[in-house]
Amino acid sequence: MANESLGEGRPGTGARAGWTREQARRIERTDDTIAPIVYPPATDQIPEVHIWDTWFLRNRDGTLADVDGYRVCFSLTAPSDLLPGKRHDVATIRCFYSDDGRNWHNAGPVFEDALGQRQWAGSALHDDDGSVYLFYTAAGEEGAEDLTYAQRIVGASGGSIDMTDGFELSGPWTHHELLQPDGDRYEREDQSRGMIYTFRDPWFFEDPETGETWLLFEANTPVPEGSDVCGGDAALQEFNGSVGIARSPTGDPLEWDLEDPLLDAVGVNQELERPHIVYRDGLYYLFISSHLHTFAPDLEGFDALYGFVAEDLRGEYVPLNESGLVATNPENAPFQSYSWMAFPHGEEVLVQSFFNYYDFDGETLDEIAHLSESEQMRRFGGSLGPTLRLDVEGSRTRIIGTLGHWHIPMVGETLPLTDRELIRRGKRDD
Ligand code: FRU
Repeated sequence: MANESLGEGRPGTGARAGWTREQARRIERTDDTIAPIVYPPATDQIPEVHIWDTWFLRNRDGTLADVDGYRVCFSLTAPSDLLPGKRHDVATIRCFYSDDGRNWHNAGPVFEDALGQRQWAGSALHDDDGSVYLFYTAAGEEGAEDLTYAQRIVGASGGSIDMTDGFELSGPWTHHELLQPDGDRYEREDQSRGMIYTFRDPWFFEDPETGETWLLFEANTPVPEGSDVCGGDAALQEFNGSVGIARSPTGDPLEWDLEDPLLDAVGVNQELERPHIVYRDGLYYLFISSHLHTFAPDLEGFDALYGFVAEDLRGEYVPLNESGLVATNPENAPFQSYSWMAFPHGEEVLVQSFFNYYDFDGETLDEIAHLSESEQMRRFGGSLGPTLRLDVEGSRTRIIGTLGHWHIPMVGETLPLTDRELIRRGKRDD
């Protein structure tokens, strides 16, 4: 399973580890990786805007922040009367907060003056001094007449939370452009040979073993025409997703130097989205989301959460469950959830995702666009889905249950017994 070139990175790509076609060929739905079917939540739990990619305010050590008894999250949002397929073109970051981890209140758009034509996913840091940093993707060039797809990684500083009259997050924010692809380790837009390049979804991480400060992001590895990567197969070379990483030499959340990618998937998959790490039992669990339609020719994957584990941050990642598949949707609702984000809670790893297209069993997401507008609207969840509970041990994971829609436990909250535990204790009525 390990790469041939241990210690030297993947030949020709610079990445330390890789997701191989051989591993990805093992992807299949199993009882341990299929999430239960999702039904729409009660109407009073549906926010007045559509929401999708969501991230929680976290402390430097990666735990979810508790701000005077509040959980805080940030979501990409769009008006709920807009066709769901158009939401990426107008995405705006809104803040939500909750004092019970179940009922969420909309604190409104975070910025008035963000960079980019619209904002895509990111992460948020509640620093030790109480200040709030928001990392996000500036998509498109502000001021351009048409919608463009340039992506830059931005950090907004200056945020603070005031609890005097209830919850209030405010600036003044300063937006700092942090990273652009260098064209060498990370593909620029003009080098892209297949689907649109990616350089987005920054995610803050402090390594508990070394104390070093990192920013992970979604990217692509440049593969020039004529390269012999993937045996020179140009059709495979177009699929060149990577997990990028930058290091802050001082721990300053606004100062980053690009380093070689942590892992790439050249010849396997084009989009390794929203990369993030859960550190557990001395191991680094690296998770990404990816789509059915971004796998390279002759590989079959799903819209799913995939994961890898290594002994060091820059280690030789091996895929979880041998293929990388950790959690996917049932076959009869293949697009019901997307954009998974794992986080630790006590002994378990919990996974949040958004409720995407339900009551739909088409083969590809493209088929959605052929439905009538009212059917597209009806089938889009546009809120957070049920939280998944994962049992994680070494390189194996198992879905062991779910919590309610958008249920993010409070600090120290005891979770209900799982079905398995109930059966084991003989407490089930049926
Ligand atoms: C995943 C994603 C992210 C991106 C956002 C744009 O759902 O593609 O990578 O930041 O959606 O809406």
